[in-house]
Amino acid sequence: MAEAWWKGAILYHVYVRSFFDSNGDGHGDLPGVEAKLDYIQSLGVDGIWLSPIHPSPNRDWGYDIADFEGIQADYGTPQDFQRLLDAAHDRGLKVVLDEVLSHTSDVHPWFVESLTGGREGPKANWYVWADPQDDGTAPNNWLSVFGGPAWAYQPARRQHYHHKFLRQQPKLNWRDPDAREAALSVLDFWLSRGVDGFRLDVAGTYLHDEALTPNPPVPMDERRGLHWSHAGNLQQHLYDSNLAENVEMLDLIRRRVEAHDGRNGGDRFVFGEFSEEEARCGAYCTPTEGLHSGYTFVMLLARKLQPTFVTQHYATLESYPGHWPTISFSNHDVPRTVSRFGGKDASPELAKMLFALLVSLKGTTLIYQGEELGLPQASLTRDQLRDPVGDLYWPYDGGRDGCRTPMPWTTGPNMGFTTGDPWLPLAREHAGLSVEEQGEDPDSVLNFSREMIAFRKATSALALGEIEFLGVDAPLVAFVRRHAGDEVICVFNFGDAPQVLAHPSLERAELLPLRTGEADLRGGSVGLSPLAAAFLRLV
Ligand code: NOJ
Repeated sequence: MAEAWWKGAILYHVYVRSFFDSNGDGHGDLPGVEAKLDYIQSLGVDGIWLSPIHPSPNRDWGYDIADFEGIQADYGTPQDFQRLLDAAHDRGLKVVLDEVLSHTSDVHPWFVESLTGGREGPKANWYVWADPQDDGTAPNNWLSVFGGPAWAYQPARRQHYHHKFLRQQPKLNWRDPDAREAALSVLDFWLSRGVDGFRLDVAGTYLHDEALTPNPPVPMDERRGLHWSHAGNLQQHLYDSNLAENVEMLDLIRRRVEAHDGRNGGDRFVFGEFSEEEARCGAYCTPTEGLHSGYTFVMLLARKLQPTFVTQHYATLESYPGHWPTISFSNHDVPRTVSRFGGKDASPELAKMLFALLVSLKGTTLIYQGEELGLPQASLTRDQLRDPVGDLYWPYDGGRDGCRTPMPWTTGPNMGFTTGDPWLPLAREHAGLSVEEQGEDPDSVLNFSREMIAFRKATSALALGEIEFLGVDAPLVAFVRRHAGDEVICVFNFGDAPQVLAHPSLERAELLPLRTGEADLRGGSVGLSPLAAAFLRLV
């Protein structure tokens, strides 16, 4: 049987608001995505994941949805969406929507009715409501990811409602059968319009502990390396989310998605965003139960360019037999890859090596817009920030705007993103890195990214193969990808000095033409220049 299209696919993550503005109002929109489909297709990717496109008051930039079946007016009309979907399909590109079904906006009619309809009303239990404790404080100690208590008091019900993120993002109660059915119906609605799948926001959080058991603290000796300005990180989120039984909800979702016939002869894909723990991801996405795949924040938060950031990741994931990973180094929530690993020394060489690594690791791959250009993180001033997280934690954490600035398309005004006033400034760090400039330079990160994607698509071992790490020392990382008799060794030098890798398997290897940096094969060893990536086929 042919593999599902999403196995080994590469999805390009479009952050719609910052992609391309078609009408000069300063932010990206759906006709803007359609206008750039030729560019997306030129990368060689298999499809796009669109950040949320539904009506939203934008407290959390679309992750607070007020109408799951509509299109955000800023972004266009339902007809614009249909045109984009058809145009993508005409080019053979899949379209995956971002659905935020764990919570809604506080202006969603469901929440308004739950709040105002009384404790006996038909939607009374659609959200997680709880009485205050006897002393009037919040029902328990649960903290919001964005800081402060995860509860908000509402005099209208003399109760608190639970919110894992902003108080404007009340948590939907997936334990209530009607609320759950309403959430699942959202998937039916968009599947019947022809979308190819979903990225599910915070998919480990559908179920909360009914007894409202308090979360325990993170032990003191494990607190290193976390963002301590975010108080929510001081507790282990064992009872507000990450419950083992959450997999039952994921399974319902998967069955619902699989119940639809594929359009274009394909099948649908549903993957989730999970918390920091890979183990949870492995348990929530198995060949037969839960979602098809998912990603965690482990790679997204890694900052040290050390092989362990990939080797440990796979060591955990591979302990879940049959788990198919989704791999991502960056997105709209974390600092851009090349800056995270390279700081101020972020270079095109580093960008190329990291892109080569991303695309050769086992899994379905997510590329965040601009990653193919090697864009560094933008630095913004306090008054330029639009992300509520930046607002809450300034100056300890500038929030997420530094990775959300608009795409640099040309050398023209606003780097070709808009003819109006951009909603976030174009990054001065992106000068010289536009699509136009890089397109003309054969050695650019962009052109390397295209070659790398083409190489992956032409090499089934990279797209579909198993992965086995070779026991080599830092700063080298090496692994073999194997599929249907094809074996490709992928070698990377994370260091700033030349390295030689000697390995018995290299005696029967031939160096493939695609590489970044210098590589030289002699007998059973391969030499690599700093930040080089090379590929060898076992013959
Ligand atoms: C994860 C999303 O990626 C992030 O942008 C959002 O703020 C939270 N979930 C809450 O929906």
